[in-house]
Amino acid sequence: MRRLTGAAAAQQRVTTSLMEIFHESFYVSDYIPPLRHHFLTRFYDPVVRLTTRERVFKHALLVQAQIKPGQEVLDLGCGTGTLTIQIARAFPGVIATGIDADPEALAIARAKAVREVTPVTFTRGFAQHLPFDSGRFDTVVSSLFFHHLTRTDKKSALAEAGRVLKPAGELHVADWGRPANALMHAAFFMVRLLDGFETTAESVSDGLLELMRAAGFAGIAKTAVVNTPFGSIGIYRAIKPI
Ligand SMILES: C[S@@+](CC[C@H](N)C(=O)[O-])C[C@H]1O[C@@H](n2cnc3c(N)ncnc32)[C@H](O)[C@@H]1O
Repeated sequence: MRRLTGAAAAQQRVTTSLMEIFHESFYVSDYIPPLRHHFLTRFYDPVVRLTTRERVFKHALLVQAQIKPGQEVLDLGCGTGTLTIQIARAFPGVIATGIDADPEALAIARAKAVREVTPVTFTRGFAQHLPFDSGRFDTVVSSLFFHHLTRTDKKSALAEAGRVLKPAGELHVADWGRPANALMHAAFFMVRLLDGFETTAESVSDGLLELMRAAGFAGIAKTAVVNTPFGSIGIYRAIKPI
């Protein structure tokens, strides 16, 4: 192979460096950040508030979860911590922990918890390898998270959720699900464009239900649908058998 010299070599080095910077800034190989690109993370809270009917679907999720005082709750893929903090405020005496892969989202979450004087713990980690003892949590919740994972990672995350739950512990999930009609189908295209067509493939078919069954959960159900400007959010429930 011919060696590049002088200006050609310098040009190649600059091109390679620019490609690396571009890759680092826009694509992360081991997880998808809150709004896909790191530079958008600071806008996550207002974007979600304005585009997903956040209050409505998170309220529906918490009504379903029926968390009791003294219970330990894990928020998988907690992002900027809105749901984790909401849980700690809505259910006094609950021990709430949020876990997320993204350090910047966690920094926002911790700042919010301090501002709102809410005692919650935020931990950096991956849902596929949870750094928690087996059987620790009464409830695992998750919102707008599973569609960030490949099918293989969804399976691992569900297996890990099952492992850290106590027997009869409950998993409550809100995430993009099967679009309720053609309009919702068209609206969801934008989310798929942003978050990726591979990781959102199960959303379109409610594939999470089948994956929950395969992970050994019982009492699996989709209990509600919240239509939003960007598609239908499903509320799902699964129980760890005794
Ligand atoms: C769309 S955000 C949802 C955040 C929050 N749950 C909410 O409802 O606003 C998805 C989050 O999943 C996190 N995430 C993606 N892959 C992950 C993984 N494998 N393990 C843990 N967190 C992950 C991202 O960093 C991001 O904060």
